[in-house]
Amino acid sequence: MSYYQENREAFLEGLKTFLRIPSISTEPEHRPDIQRAAEFVRDELSAAGMAKAELIEGAGHPLVYAEWLGAPGKPTLLFYGHYDVQPVEPLEEWKSPPFEPEIRNDNIYARGSCDDKGQVYILVKAVEGLLKTTGKLPCNVKFLIEGEEEVSGEHIESYVAKKPPRLASDAAIICDTEMFAPELPTICVGLRGIVYTELHVQGADHDLHSGVYGGAAPNPIQAIAEIVTALKDRDGHILIPGFYDRVQPPSRKEKEAWARLPFDEEEYRKKEIGSPALTGEPEFDVFERTWARPTFEVHGIRGGFIGEGAKTVIPARAVAKISMRLVADQRPEEALAQFKAAVAKVCPRGVTAEVKLIHHAGASLVNPDNRFIDAAAAAMQQVFGSQTVYIRSGGSIPIVGSFERSLGIPSVMMGFGLPDDNLHAPNEKFHLPNFYRGIEAVARFLEIVGQ
Ligand code: BES
Ligand code: MN
Ligand code: MN
Repeated sequence: MSYYQENREAFLEGLKTFLRIPSISTEPEHRPDIQRAAEFVRDELSAAGMAKAELIEGAGHPLVYAEWLGAPGKPTLLFYGHYDVQPVEPLEEWKSPPFEPEIRNDNIYARGSCDDKGQVYILVKAVEGLLKTTGKLPCNVKFLIEGEEEVSGEHIESYVAKKPPRLASDAAIICDTEMFAPELPTICVGLRGIVYTELHVQGADHDLHSGVYGGAAPNPIQAIAEIVTALKDRDGHILIPGFYDRVQPPSRKEKEAWARLPFDEEEYRKKEIGSPALTGEPEFDVFERTWARPTFEVHGIRGGFIGEGAKTVIPARAVAKISMRLVADQRPEEALAQFKAAVAKVCPRGVTAEVKLIHHAGASLVNPDNRFIDAAAAAMQQVFGSQTVYIRSGGSIPIVGSFERSLGIPSVMMGFGLPDDNLHAPNEKFHLPNFYRGIEAVARFLEIVGQ
C-alpha cells in the first residue's frame, strides 16, 4: 500500500482540525481564527518536510509561504490556495454545524471543506507523501496560501505586484475550482472578474409617515428598483452604455469543445438551480452565459422596515449590494466608471444615488498550450481513469490575473470540487473520494513535471 492509501485516516483527521477553525475573512471578530488558520497551514507545511515555511505578516491577513528548492534544473511550481472561508449564514439551514465537520455518505460537510481548505490540504498532503517516502520532490515547489481570497485578495495582490524574487516560478498551480461533473477530471482555463459595489440612495432627510406623505415623498427602495431594472432588462441584457464593448466571444474551437461536454439543461435547471426556469440572454447558451458573458446582480437591499409585522414608513435611505462579473477584455475600473455614469443617468427624481466600490478583480483567460497544463491533464486522467476536459468557470480568483501580469506565469487550475458542493451556501461539502484522488493526482502531476 502506498503512503497515500495508508494515511487516509490521518489526512482526514488533519483536514477536520483545519475545518474546525472558523476563519471567516470578512468578519473582524474572526481575526484570531484567521491567524490560527494561517499558523495551522504553516505548521502542516513544515511537518510535511518543506525546507522553509513561514508567515508573511504585514497589512491584512497573513500569507503563508513555504519552499522546497532541492531540484536544481527542474521547473519551479507555485502552489496557491486560500485558508479563509465565507460566512455561514443562514445557520439554521445547516444539517450539521458549519465548523464541526461531519461525514455523511462519503462527503465531509463543513464551511471551507471544498472552498478551499480541503483543496489546500490536497496540495499539502501531496508534497508530504513524496517527501516522506522519497525524501525529495521531483521539482521545486513554493507555496503561497492567502487568507483574503473571499474578500478580493487585496494584500496578496500588492505583494505579488512587487515581484518578490522568492516567488519566481514557472507556473502557478491552483486547486480552487470545480470538476465539470463527477468522475470527469477538469482543468479550468478561464475565470470571470468582478466589480462589487454598494449603491447608496438617499431620499428625504428623515423617515416619513407613509400615509401622511405617501404621494409626495420619494421612496429610495423604489428608486433602487427603478435603477436596477433600468440597467438590466427582462432578458438579462445589461443596459449600461459601453459595458459590452470589450467583451471577447469564445473561439469557435472552445465553443465546439463546450458542446461536447455532457450537459442536460433541464437537469441543470432542476438539480443545480432548482428554479421554475432559467433566465439570462436568450441568444447565448448556458455555458456562454455563465462563463463568457458579464453579469449584473443585486445581492441584497437594506433599508426600510424588515421586521415582523407592519410599519407604515417611507424610509429616508436604502442601500443595495450590486456586483458585475466581468469577462476578458473588460477592465474593472472602466466597468465601474460606466456603472457610475449609468446610475447618474437613470437615477429618478427626488433621490440622490452614490456608488461605492467594495472590491474588484480582473477576469483571466489561460492559454492551455503549455507543458504544465498538459502534465496536469495527464496526471488527472491517470488517477481518475477518464479523459480530462477543459472548461471555464463563472467564479473569480482575483490573484490569477496577477500571476500572469506580475509574475509572467500561467496558472494551472486543477480543481476537485463538484457542482453540488454548495460553495458559499449552507451544507458545503467535499466529496472524500475526490479529496484522496486529488492528493494522488497532484503528486502524480509533480512526478510528470519532474521527468
Ligand atoms: N473558489 C472560488 C471561485 C470559484 C468557484 C472558481 C467555483 C471556480 C469554480 C473562490 O473562492 C471565490 O468564491 N471567489 C469569489 C471572489 C470574490 C469574492 C472576489 C467569487 O467568485 O465570488
Ligand atoms: Mn475558493
Ligand atoms: Mn469562495
